[in-house]
Amino acid sequence: MDILSIQQQAEKEIKGANDLKELNLVFEKYLGRKGEISKFFRSLKDLPLEQRKIQGKKANQVKEVLEKKIQEKRTILSKKPFQEIKRAELDVTQPGERINLGHLSILTYAKREVIDFFKSIGFEIIESPEVETEYYNFDALNIPDYHPARDSMDTFWLKNKEKSKDKFLLRTHTSPSQIRYMEKHKPPFRVITPGRVFRYEAIDASHEAQFYQVEGLAVSKDIGLANLRYVLENFLKYFFGREVNLRWRPGYFPFVEPGLEVDIECQVCQGKGCPTCKYAGFIELAGAGMVHPNVLKNGGINPYKWQGFAFGLGLDRLVMMRHNINDIRLFHSGDLRFMSQF
Ligand code: PHE
Repeated sequence: MDILSIQQQAEKEIKGANDLKELNLVFEKYLGRKGEISKFFRSLKDLPLEQRKIQGKKANQVKEVLEKKIQEKRTILSKKPFQEIKRAELDVTQPGERINLGHLSILTYAKREVIDFFKSIGFEIIESPEVETEYYNFDALNIPDYHPARDSMDTFWLKNKEKSKDKFLLRTHTSPSQIRYMEKHKPPFRVITPGRVFRYEAIDASHEAQFYQVEGLAVSKDIGLANLRYVLENFLKYFFGREVNLRWRPGYFPFVEPGLEVDIECQVCQGKGCPTCKYAGFIELAGAGMVHPNVLKNGGINPYKWQGFAFGLGLDRLVMMRHNINDIRLFHSGDLRFMSQF
């Protein structure tokens, strides 16, 4: 085909294109890499130089013209749907199509509520790494490697890529944040660290290999268990919107002395006993206590001058108790029938 016929044919097709899809096909057919114009250029290679120059120039002009025409037509066509809708088909009395919006996980909402509460009573909100070293997760918290308490937190150890004197792991609790914060700040202070923790554990209705904790730490001159109790009780009242039955009992953690465990009456069975609370009527919600002098020392704080309380709250269990969720595994199940209830 000579170049002028190509042009005529192309212009006709551009005019006739009814929508953008058709127009794109016309573009491909003439201006695409394997299109008529390219073919035409390739066919010139056998012509004598003079001829080649003249024909080449013509072809370039045609190419420009066609590009412009296609662009113009594209502008017209892309406005078309709106014009048509305006004219006729839109029945504004028809119900619209329902848009399904997702939302955050109940755990995220709960975490934000916890943050709001503690912010309102003057706590600072901090973060701490999920990948920790053995030092911060254990040694600095008064848990040396021969200590039997290490067995109570089955650990995901990480393989070291490079030779390093630190052994890395996924933090088994948020308590390492205590040391990290104390190293960099002078008392008095009060902070919470919400975050994810990991345990290499057999999972069941109340245990997951990954769950959330909220660590609390308050250090000052005269601060005691009464302050801890006041803060936690008020927090729980806020979180549940009512009084809940708690049970405070002695508990052992190497990084506090004295240490406590705080149990909440199982809300799934109202204390009667069920698989969620393992028929105990209560479920462990937090570990707590007065910060051990060795821990203060490891954080660079003089234990003869300062003292403080610490707690570690289980966020998943808190949410389970408030919403009557009987299985912790539901949180990560991705089951929309569960997720969309909140
Ligand atoms: N880190 C402890 C745990 O995960 C909880 C705890 C925190 C206990 C702070 C005492 C003080 O079990």
